[in-house]
Amino acid sequence: MTRTLLLTGGCGFIGSNFVRFVLANRPDWRIINLDVLSYSGNPENLADLEGDPRYRFVKGDICDMDTVAPLMEEADGVVHMAAESHVDRSIMDSKPFVVSNVLGTQTLLDAARRAKGGKGAGRFVLVSTDEVYGSLPLERPDLRFTEETPLQPNSPYAASKTGADLLARAAFHTFGMDVVTTRCSNNFGPYQFPEKVIPLFVTNLMENQQVPLYGDGKNVRDWIHVDDHCEGVLTVLEKGRAGEVYNIGGDNERSNLELTHAILDIMGKGKDMIRPVQDRLGHDRRYAIDASKMANELGWRPSRSAWPDALESTVRWYVDNRSWWQRVKSGAYREYYAKQYGAKG
Ligand code: NAD
Ligand code: DAU
Repeated sequence: MTRTLLLTGGCGFIGSNFVRFVLANRPDWRIINLDVLSYSGNPENLADLEGDPRYRFVKGDICDMDTVAPLMEEADGVVHMAAESHVDRSIMDSKPFVVSNVLGTQTLLDAARRAKGGKGAGRFVLVSTDEVYGSLPLERPDLRFTEETPLQPNSPYAASKTGADLLARAAFHTFGMDVVTTRCSNNFGPYQFPEKVIPLFVTNLMENQQVPLYGDGKNVRDWIHVDDHCEGVLTVLEKGRAGEVYNIGGDNERSNLELTHAILDIMGKGKDMIRPVQDRLGHDRRYAIDASKMANELGWRPSRSAWPDALESTVRWYVDNRSWWQRVKSGAYREYYAKQYGAKG
């Protein structure tokens, strides 16, 4: 069956990988990518798809009902990824997070429900995050987040994503919408904006700069390769049950110190390249995902996230694509979309 999928945030890190993943694995699907091109949205990530009849880019804001509503008329499925995504930025200025993550999600849910004379735009997958659960103590390695773990977000980013998550829940319970939510752990892979720890550290090292490690470096994240996440979202879109939440994780817990040492080893750099810096405010100690519901119910398991191979291939991507991240770090990528789409960025 031909499907027209409306994807939001497709010019970002996970979104651009998701576009490629879906086009490669579902040959009869079309994707409409709605993205406002914020600082982290980079259409260069998908430049090779320009002119592809199965792919259409629409520059626009998910908060703008006039933009969103006509796109919902064309869609028979929605994957909502657009968001302000970086915790440190949310600590510096929370407002854009509330606007895009909460108001934007509500606008999309309303438009999806009203589309096609009230028949709706098909299944709506909200890409949420494991950060909605808050933090686990390092002293209890036996604990992991399940879908039943209470929501206790700690950063303005996580709180805004929790707002979106709860709006999706309400849309199912109040209006009977076909909404499914995913909560995934930390992604790594190609095209990640170099403010996030892995591309920041790799690209700093390539420029012979030190890497800023927050606090004592003992904070733990559960790392998943972006393609495993993309496959998980597609699985939920096709096979998940309406109204349900599904955790997605890489079963790959590492402290930031372990991660940093692994990157230094891969890149042949010494520990003197670590610069301990002041900790992030309210820094969550540990995230760890129990993804057994995905495995038992939908047959999904992470198959591309195991280290050292997955980390090495990711580091190699940044080494091989120096011009991509240099343009992003210098802001030069904005010229591209100013020329293509008349935006200033
Ligand atoms: P990203 O910052 O790389 O990309 C976000 C994209 O959303 C950008 O292209 C941006 O232009 C777009 N966007 C932002 N506000 C918008 C708006 N108002 N209207 C239209 N487009 C807008 O983020 P990412 O890391 O790719 O994350 C994508 C999604 O996955 C987010 O919802 C994030 O919360 C979630 N998530 C991320 C991770 C991770 O490790 N990166 C893990 C779990 C969940
Ligand atoms: O868990 C899922 C979340 O993972 C997503 O919802 C977010 O969108 C995504 O940004 C990510 O959040 P984190 O805050 O965990 O990712 P970040 O890459 O910013 O940081 C990872 C860890 O590395 C964290 O413990 C903080 C630390 N860190 C980060 C930076 C940027 C450093 O030590 N130094 C740094 O310079």
